[in-house]
Amino acid sequence: MCGIVGYIGRKQAAPILLDGLSKLEYRGYDSAGMAIYDGTQINIEKSTGRLKVLSELTHDGSTMPGTVGIGHTRWATHGEPSDKNAHPHFNEARSIAVVHNGIIENYMKLKNKLINRGYHFISDTDTEVVAHLLDYYYKKTDGNIIDTITKVMHRVEGSYALGIIFAEHPDKVYALRKDSPLIVGRSDEGNLIASDVPAVLKYTRDVYFIENEEIAVLSEDAIEFFNSDGEPIEKESKTIEWDINAAEKGGYEHFMLKEMYEQPKTVRDTLTPRIKDGKIVIEELGMSEEEIRAINRIHIVACGSAYHTGVTAKYIMEGLARIPVEVDLASEFRYRNPILNKGDLVVIISQSGETADSLAALREAKAQGITTLGIVNVVGSSIAREADRVMYTWAGPEIAVATTKAYSAQLIAHYLLAIYFAQVKGMVTDEEVSEMLTDLKAIPAQIEMLLANKEHIQKIANRYVGAKDVFFIGRGIDYAIGMEGSLKLKEISYVHSEAYAAGELKHGTISLIEEGTLVTAIVTQKELYKKTMSNIVEVRSRGAVVLAVTNEDNTEIEKTADYVIYIPQTNKYFTNSLAIIPLQLFAYYVSVGKGCDVDKPRNLAKSVTVE
Ligand code: F6R
Repeated sequence: MCGIVGYIGRKQAAPILLDGLSKLEYRGYDSAGMAIYDGTQINIEKSTGRLKVLSELTHDGSTMPGTVGIGHTRWATHGEPSDKNAHPHFNEARSIAVVHNGIIENYMKLKNKLINRGYHFISDTDTEVVAHLLDYYYKKTDGNIIDTITKVMHRVEGSYALGIIFAEHPDKVYALRKDSPLIVGRSDEGNLIASDVPAVLKYTRDVYFIENEEIAVLSEDAIEFFNSDGEPIEKESKTIEWDINAAEKGGYEHFMLKEMYEQPKTVRDTLTPRIKDGKIVIEELGMSEEEIRAINRIHIVACGSAYHTGVTAKYIMEGLARIPVEVDLASEFRYRNPILNKGDLVVIISQSGETADSLAALREAKAQGITTLGIVNVVGSSIAREADRVMYTWAGPEIAVATTKAYSAQLIAHYLLAIYFAQVKGMVTDEEVSEMLTDLKAIPAQIEMLLANKEHIQKIANRYVGAKDVFFIGRGIDYAIGMEGSLKLKEISYVHSEAYAAGELKHGTISLIEEGTLVTAIVTQKELYKKTMSNIVEVRSRGAVVLAVTNEDNTEIEKTADYVIYIPQTNKYFTNSLAIIPLQLFAYYVSVGKGCDVDKPRNLAKSVTVE
C-alpha cells in the first residue's frame, strides 16, 4: 500500500524523504515522488518504477533544494501506475501539494462537482480531488488552513493518511488521517510524518500515533494537534523501543531470509514473558478466571497468513480447551452479518494492526458489544488501540511482504492462549501443562536446526523453479500448514499452488495431478498418518512427485515419498511451528531461483489498508 513521508527542519528535505521512503518500500509500490518547497515555489519530481528511478532523477535528492517536503510511494488503486498518476498531486496553481495513502470513496461525486466549478484534472487518481478541494476551501476560508482541512475532512469519505504543503505557508507540513496509518516523529533535527515507524527511526524514537480524524501541524521546532472541529488537542508521544538494526537487512540477501532466521528469537520473545512459575500467565488479557470460564465461543478473524494461524488455532483451542471456535476471513466476516452472542470472544489477528478488513471486523464486533482481543505485532497500531485487549507478538518490524516471523509469533500466541484457557477451565493437568511448556521452550532451538538444513531444501527447490503447479495436502493441522506453505510459494515465486485437505482430493482435485506434478504432503499428526499416506499413494500412482514433511520417527514414509524432510519431535499441537520452516525455505529458494523480487513481490502490499 502507499507510503507517505514528510519532513520540516534545518536539513535538506529530499535525502531525508528518499531515505524514509526506502524504509516504506516493503509496503509495496509502483511509483514514487516528492514535493519540496525551494524558498520560492513547490517543485514536484515523480516517476513510475522503483525508488531508484526517483533517486536517479533527482541525483539522490541533490537537485531538489529546500527543507520542507513530502514524499510518496504509490500502490495504484485508482488509475494505472504512470508518471501522471504518481503522487504528489498539485492544485492548478501548483501552490498546494498532497500525498495520500487510502481511497477516497466518493471521489467521483466530488470530482464532478469540482469540474462543474471549473477545476481541471490531470490524473486519474482519487487523490487529485483532495488537492483541488483544498484549493477550493482555502479560497473560501480566506486562507484559514485548519478550517480548510477540517472542511475537506468532512467532505471526503473513505480512508486517508494525507501529507500536505502549502506554498503560502512554507513553514509548515500538515497531516491528517482516517483509517490509514500515520505517525509523527519529533526530533532535534526537525519533525517528520510517516506511514510507519521504520521511516523515522533513523532520526527519532519519539513518536505520536495520530488517531482517526486528527490533524497534525508540524513546524521546524513544534508540533500541534487538532481534532476534526479544528480545536487544539494534547497528545502524548511514545518511545519506540525497537533497535534500528531490526529494520535493516543486516548482511542477509533479503529481508525475508533475515526474518526467517529471526524466528527462534521471535518465538522466545513471544513465549518467555508469558511463562511464570511453570504456568502460563497472560496478564494483558485482563480477563478474570470467571470470564474465561464463561466464554461460549471464539471467533477468530483475520486475513492471509494471519487467517492461516487462526485455522491452526481452531484445532488447538477446541482440542485443549474445548471451546468452539469459528475462523473467518475478515473480508467475509464484516459483510456477512455474523451471529455474535453474549459470552463470545472475537480475536482479531494482524501483524500490521492496520489491515482494513480486519479493522472493520473488529469494529463490527465492538458495535455488537462483544469483547475483542487483538493479537497484533505493531505496537500502537489501529487494531492494537481499538481492541478491548491486546496480546502483542514480539516479532519486531517485519519488512518482507511475505510474513514469516510474525506468522511464527502468532502461532505461539495461539498456543499460549489455548493452554491458558485450558488451564483455567481445568481441562489439562499441571503435568500436561509442564510437558507442553517443555516442548514450547524447545521450539526455538528446533527451528534453528531446521534452518540449518537450508541447503538440502534449496537443492529440492532448484528442481522446481520451472514448476507450473504445486499442491499441498494434509489433514487437520497439517492442512492449515499446507495453506500457509502454498501461500508462501505462490506469493513470492508466482508458481500456481493450492492447498487441499487431503481427504478432499478425490472430490475433484485429483484430476489436476499430471506426470511430474509436485505434491507436498504434510504428515505430522500421528492419528492421521495412515489416512494421509493413502492420499500420497493415490497421487503418486497418478504420476505426482511427493515431497513429504513429517516427524522424525516416521521413516517408513521414505518407501513412498520421493523427498522427505523431517521435523523434530514436539507436541502434536505445535508441529506447525516446525513444519512451516522448510516450506518457507522452499518458497524462498524457488523465488530466488526464478529471479523474483523476493521481498517485494509484484502487485502485493505489506499492509493492506484498503478493502
Ligand atoms: C502473506 C501475508 C499476508 C498477511 C495479510 C494480513 O505472506 O503476509 O497474507 O498475512 O495481508 O496482514 P496483517 O497480519 O498485517 O493483518
